[in-house]
Amino acid sequence: MAVRPVLRMGDARLWQQARAVEQFATAELAALIVDLEDTMRELDGAGLAAPQIGVDLRVVIFGIDANPRYPDAEAVPHTVLINPVLTPLSTEVEEAWEGCLSVPGLRGCVPRWKHLRYSGFDPSGRPIERSVCDFHARVVQHECDHLDGILYPMRMTDFSRFGFVNELFPEGGLATAE
Ligand code: NI
Repeated sequence: MAVRPVLRMGDARLWQQARAVEQFATAELAALIVDLEDTMRELDGAGLAAPQIGVDLRVVIFGIDANPRYPDAEAVPHTVLINPVLTPLSTEVEEAWEGCLSVPGLRGCVPRWKHLRYSGFDPSGRPIERSVCDFHARVVQHECDHLDGILYPMRMTDFSRFGFVNELFPEGGLATAE
């Protein structure tokens, strides 16, 4: 198992619609998930989607431990989500800062659904269904967009709030969905 190179914005593989997983509980799927986890941990990300390591499948992982340095970033359970379906639970949209391991060094303010339900499957094929809001909902939307070839700058509406993290936040201390 291995830390894999993360594709960066501009690589055509990031613009593709990923394929649904058809077989669960396989050695190939387990190996993919270990690689995603190793890569996310190495790069200190909040989430990672299979297309970001060049694998054309609808698999995302995400999870954030509570961190006293970032009291605004609630903990999100460590989750492997396969073939996800997202359904907004209200029309409410919220803007917050995001980054992405495929767009290194930059941050942008992105509008996202505030409340949503997501469903999908775990690696064994057992169903997952959760209703979430705020940061958890944001992370899921960001990761699942990767499965449809969408990077967060494509969701932005105000490009005055897009830039290099060191310029935007010289004091540091910003936790963002990756
Ligand atoms: Ni991303």
